[in-house]
Amino acid sequence: MRGRIPDSFIDELLARVDIVDVIERRVPLKKAGREWTACCPFHNERTPSFYVSPAKQFFHCFGCGAHGSALKFLMDYERLEFPDAVEELAQSVGLTVPREGGDDRAQREDKTDLYALLDAAARWYENELPKSADAQAYCKKRGLDAATIQRFRIGWAPAGFDGVIKALGGSDKRMHLLNEAGMVASNERGNRYDRFRERLMFPILDRRGRVIAFGGRVLQSDQGPKYLNSPETPLFHKGRELFALWQVKQANPSLARIVVVEGYMDVIAMHQAGLPIAVATLGTATTPEHTEVLFRAAPDVVFCFDGDRAGRAAAWKALEAALPRLRDGRQAYFLFLPDGEDPDTLIRKEGKDGFEKRLKAATPLSEYFFSELSHDVDTASLDGRARLAERARPLIARLPDGAFRDLMAQELEKRTGARAVLEADPAARRPVQRPIVVQRSLVRSAIALLLAQPGVADQVERPYGFLRLDKPGVELLAELIDLARSRPGINPAMLVEHFAERPEYAALQKLMAAMVVGEPETQREEFLDALSRMEQQAVIQRRDYLTAKSREGTLDAAEKAELRELLAARVTPLKAE
Ligand code: CTP
Ligand code: MN
Repeated sequence: MRGRIPDSFIDELLARVDIVDVIERRVPLKKAGREWTACCPFHNERTPSFYVSPAKQFFHCFGCGAHGSALKFLMDYERLEFPDAVEELAQSVGLTVPREGGDDRAQREDKTDLYALLDAAARWYENELPKSADAQAYCKKRGLDAATIQRFRIGWAPAGFDGVIKALGGSDKRMHLLNEAGMVASNERGNRYDRFRERLMFPILDRRGRVIAFGGRVLQSDQGPKYLNSPETPLFHKGRELFALWQVKQANPSLARIVVVEGYMDVIAMHQAGLPIAVATLGTATTPEHTEVLFRAAPDVVFCFDGDRAGRAAAWKALEAALPRLRDGRQAYFLFLPDGEDPDTLIRKEGKDGFEKRLKAATPLSEYFFSELSHDVDTASLDGRARLAERARPLIARLPDGAFRDLMAQELEKRTGARAVLEADPAARRPVQRPIVVQRSLVRSAIALLLAQPGVADQVERPYGFLRLDKPGVELLAELIDLARSRPGINPAMLVEHFAERPEYAALQKLMAAMVVGEPETQREEFLDALSRMEQQAVIQRRDYLTAKSREGTLDAAEKAELRELLAARVTPLKAE
């Protein structure tokens, strides 16, 4: 058994996370004055009564009364037990959960020490820069001015194997920290030496401006890999960080557009040229986490890539990462640069105005999407159009529900004549003509259909509306969907095996076995129909509950408003078969 989690850690954790971040990752929030708001994920509603207060680090729903801290949110939303919610939250900010009984105190103090150490390292490299004539000459050759060098804290890691170690590794504890911070490497004999040598150093800052890692560039191309980055450390996860995001935020109190470029030098050149709106990923593809951070920084995101093959591939990756984040109000654009150019070279040639012109002419995601998907199909032929529809559908399904998705689906229909059948808007779908699965509750049908074809889970997004339905099995269904979503390609048996040690196991096996053979496409539709009908039932349940309460005269103002809305929406039960 693991020990208890000390209360002091919970406090520290809640001090470290931002509830807006935690919730936003799961429920899209809109700014409303000092607070953020959304339709409540814990009950059905059409106008937002769910509020998140950054000042109070608290959420509250005026509709259903749900409220609490970031931890409470995770517990309710992800349906986690307390310790698991703590683990999840801690992981998201790179903390390890200490357990009582272990010597965790020293370990936790180290985090502060790690930041301090990395800051000291950055300062040390900065101080080394003026001492190296080569590094100075290189900066001059690349056109870096003093203000830029200062703003980006550019430094120099001198030759030799123990510069940083000598300067900062004074004790065992400090050596341990240097190692943990990724600043030293060791050879086969276990001897430690400076990881960065004879490199121009670019500190990587987190969202609060703290140094968490470094990128280092050689001065000449024959001196090993051009760039060397810090390894993953407790402070640095490259799939989450963006180079220069802090500088962008410092330079722009509010930002309409943010540009993602490929390299450190590209970012720096753009900032220096008067476009402090550029960030870069750190030698990795754009991740969904990156896109979320980007869209939170600005509503318009321009992905800027080389026009070559690698650039095209990277752009498509970025598009895929952006799709699930493209809710209404957010727009992604793609800018491909002429052969042999990067933003650094271009902005020096064309200046700020020239580059801005290119930015303004960037291709909207929708256009890039369809042109890329149809570039090798003949849309004049039926086969070609079918192929296009087949490729586009699952991607469009990844877009969040909203006007943009509807437009993309319409565009696909226009181009191919094929409907993009999407799950989220029950009203827009064809009426159900057939009973779902006879003699079984909706929930059981949905589970059986999911077990028959776990891939259908990909078309369902959290928050699951059907969870509001007060019926046995609803939570199990949500759990199964989560599981299937988190393991693409999982087969029905594997899915059921996950429950081998659970009381539901036998029932699941029966349901899996009971699922009659059917057309996958039909079953998929039935599954989605079952979910939307469950949602409707939940709405009816809520409406009936509020109606009954209203007869007793105990509705509060928010409930009255909600009931009015529910009545106006006139959801009627589908005929029971
Ligand atoms: N990169 C890396 N490791 C390498 C090469 C590149 O991590 N060996 C990452 C770096 O983040 C780099 C980015 O990929 O900034 C883009 O690489 P590249 O276009 O080659 O470099 P530039 O940024 O253009 O750098 P420079 O102009 O100094 O050549
Ligand atoms: Mn370059």
